[in-house]
Amino acid sequence: MRDSHTDDESRDGQTRTDGGEPSEARRASSDRRTDGGTDAAGADEVKLDPWGSSTIADYRKLFEQFGIEEFDAVLPDVPNPHYLMRRGVIFGHRDYDPVAEAMREGDDFAALSGFMPTGDPHIGHKMVFDEIIWHQQQGADAYGLIADLEAHAARGLTWAEIDEHARSYVLSLLALGFDPEEGELYRQSENRELQDLAFELGAEANASELQAIYDFDGETNISYMQSVVTQMADILYPQLDEPKPTVIPVGPDQDPHMRLARDLAARMRYFGVTEAFASFEAQPEERPLLRQAYDAREEYAEDPEMPRCGEAADWLRDHEPASADARESAVEKLTNAGKEPLRPRTRIFDRRATDAAFEALIEAVDGEKRVYDEHVDAFDLSQSEAEEIARQVELDNGGYGFLPPSSIYHRFMTGLTGGKMSSSIPASHISLLDDPADGYGKVKSATTGGRATAEEQREKGGKADECPVYELYAYLLSGDDDEFATEVYEECVGGERLCGGCKEQAAELMAQFLEDHQEKRAEWEEKLDELDIDLDTDRKRS
Ligand code: TRP
Ligand code: SF4
Repeated sequence: MRDSHTDDESRDGQTRTDGGEPSEARRASSDRRTDGGTDAAGADEVKLDPWGSSTIADYRKLFEQFGIEEFDAVLPDVPNPHYLMRRGVIFGHRDYDPVAEAMREGDDFAALSGFMPTGDPHIGHKMVFDEIIWHQQQGADAYGLIADLEAHAARGLTWAEIDEHARSYVLSLLALGFDPEEGELYRQSENRELQDLAFELGAEANASELQAIYDFDGETNISYMQSVVTQMADILYPQLDEPKPTVIPVGPDQDPHMRLARDLAARMRYFGVTEAFASFEAQPEERPLLRQAYDAREEYAEDPEMPRCGEAADWLRDHEPASADARESAVEKLTNAGKEPLRPRTRIFDRRATDAAFEALIEAVDGEKRVYDEHVDAFDLSQSEAEEIARQVELDNGGYGFLPPSSIYHRFMTGLTGGKMSSSIPASHISLLDDPADGYGKVKSATTGGRATAEEQREKGGKADECPVYELYAYLLSGDDDEFATEVYEECVGGERLCGGCKEQAAELMAQFLEDHQEKRAEWEEKLDELDIDLDTDRKRS
């Protein structure tokens, strides 16, 4: 059960730890990698829960279990990739290809992420701020939002607390380079259009679905559920003007939200497009068999120009396909279709179109077509041509035409004290508001991957892959300078670098970073009133 007033230390959006992946595996994936990571002892099994406290023991499982794809596979297609991408800190994605393509082609695209104002922004949030800002610099319509409704409903924060933190997140985002003239900043509670969209999306989702995804139950309060549909609306908000590839940079704990958002985006569409072979409906697992049967028509059809479903059924019955269950049902469907020709076509089916939109679709389909009650079969259109037409008809008839949103996932930083980075253990993380001297001190007293003695370190080298200090270099302190990050790594594992000096250098860089950052925050503080974001709510105490 999720209780809206439970607020244990770990329930903080971005501060969960990197459970770490065995260092060999990570190093092997790219020999130029300079990223760190720590194997937190006793890390949990993989479980993706946006409000949970589990750590991620093994990022590879995310690929296998949840279908998150490895970022390395798209990396070569990304123009001037960000250093977090180059260093494998951004390790996974869903459907990032259309975003990369838009970047290469100079087409419209968007980037959006959200922040629950539950505490001070820290170096974990900085990664996400940087990801939004980088996409903005690559040409994205960029959005940063304050998830105040979620903080209130899911975490039970008061509006006064929320107001204070909201301002602070916005200041850090601006100080790191977000351009508010080009991009948009909003609070969920102040965005009427967003809430209208959330309402519409809520009509497509139901309680048992949320229960299954998020472990909600009958005791879960309604506002909590509302905050979920609000996040769905956040994710689709950049497409309200027109559909465009949109990337949501987040931690992997947010993946359940991404899957639901991608699902809802599809469910909101007026039409769907599939491949079909005859008038009957085929299941996805039956389609490859029908394709196989069609391709083999020379073998069995009396007239290979016009194979009949019944003939294909007889052929398929004696065939050895991968899925026997699917074969049985496919054979049955083909048998029932009897003399009907087996003929590939692109099917556009009605999901939730108005009558007028369905009529318009029929008109818009070029070439040979056949019209049924709930679908149109097009014989001269490819799937992508059909999708294009379906989206245009939807847009012309008042629909959203959403593209499924994409996501990228970054590793969680390890706590400076080893194990978890947690906002309730100040020494484990560095807040962007920390006094530079405190930041310096925290780095100086951080756990390292060093050996017991200097002698041993010189001989065997340090364990940079298990060192939170090295992680600071890779994730933050080296910035865009790969050479520097590599140098630290090589010197460490080669035994030339000792932890005392290494930490001193990192601590100085951290203090410098905090000082600069806070100066820029102060400059923005002066200009905050001019921005188009309402940072103070006048809500009743609750
Ligand atoms: N749920 C996110 C968190 O816990 C915050 C959030 C709200 C968000 N809306 C979003 C993140 C949209 C990404 C996109 O941190
Ligand atoms: Fe970590 Fe630096 Fe020590 Fe290497 S030398 S283990 S990177 S602190």
